[in-house]
Amino acid sequence: MNISSADFYSDTQTLPSRAMLESVVGVRTGDERHGACPTTNQLCERVADLFGMEDAVFLPSGSMCNQIAIAVHTRPGDEIICSRESHIIFAECGGLAKLSGVMVSVIDTDRGIFAAGDVSRLYRRPSSFSPHTRLVVTEQTSNLGGGAVWPLDQIQAVSRTAADLGLSVHMDGARVLNAAVATGISVSDYASMHDSAWLAFTKGLGCPVGAVLTGSRDFIREAWHFKRMFGGAMRQTGVLTGMCLYALDHHVERLFEDHARAKRIEAFLSGSELFSRVLPVETNIVLAEISGDVGVTAQQLRDFLGEKNVQVMAVGRDRLRMITHLDVDDVAVDRLVDAMEAAESLKHNQ
Ligand SMILES: Cc1ncc(COP(=O)(O)O)c(C=O)c1O
Repeated sequence: MNISSADFYSDTQTLPSRAMLESVVGVRTGDERHGACPTTNQLCERVADLFGMEDAVFLPSGSMCNQIAIAVHTRPGDEIICSRESHIIFAECGGLAKLSGVMVSVIDTDRGIFAAGDVSRLYRRPSSFSPHTRLVVTEQTSNLGGGAVWPLDQIQAVSRTAADLGLSVHMDGARVLNAAVATGISVSDYASMHDSAWLAFTKGLGCPVGAVLTGSRDFIREAWHFKRMFGGAMRQTGVLTGMCLYALDHHVERLFEDHARAKRIEAFLSGSELFSRVLPVETNIVLAEISGDVGVTAQQLRDFLGEKNVQVMAVGRDRLRMITHLDVDDVAVDRLVDAMEAAESLKHNQ
């Protein structure tokens, strides 16, 4: 653990533990690009099983999982339906337009979660004028929605409606294990009726690299085409995927600890004069809105906390995001609380 700071910026900030690194000494590896890395193949089988899918492919990042899935499911000129808060909208550099030539119909949501009715409302009936609506994208949990978990019946209703309309459904499951641990609902239940879904290893699971994209055999065959095209085919990935297997064995059940710490932060911030609203914490993400009468922006508050060696993310002008993970313990939460208490002086100085 990095003891010099309390880094709540993201759960992507974890460093591989000694045990994780030691787990890959002597690991069996081979040329992944040719499907010849046994450890990578083992990981892919395990993740496909977790999602209840036929097949899977290892990729360097979650963004590449999303972009490859979009490329497989669509043709240039097609339209995607998703929430405005989706990672594919706010953090993937417009890749879906550049790489797949698709357009997007975004849904304004409260916490990144939409309804089956939104899909049928935005679906365009085939005509010689309109783009083909082709794909619906869900994000479990919703990052910008403050780690909100899609209720099972809602995500299934969305997928069923999409399927009835002849659309494909893709899940950005970067943090789907956080949802599963928080609710006790299996990943395969959340992913049922999806055509593709993926899991990040670099977030709550604490690995340095990697994500696994799952789907049908045909989907994964096509995904390999784009993996090579986008430069995501690798070589001796066993040293990476061995760590992912280690994380599946050792870092899943403990996610509830991250959720408990996020709850502790929520409880503290809810009583702080600095914030007018803290979104209800469901998993490991805390999103808090700075009160208008405090007179500081999210950037100013982030910088103040940063000077106290506590890292958080400023989201827009008035929101702070804090994420708990493997490398922040109770002492780090104490330091966050102390730094926030000190920040209350910013208000009194107005
Ligand atoms: C919901 C969500 N999707 C996708 C990604 C992208 O993953 P990566 O950083 O591995 O590209 C992230 C990263 O934080 C995310 O939070």
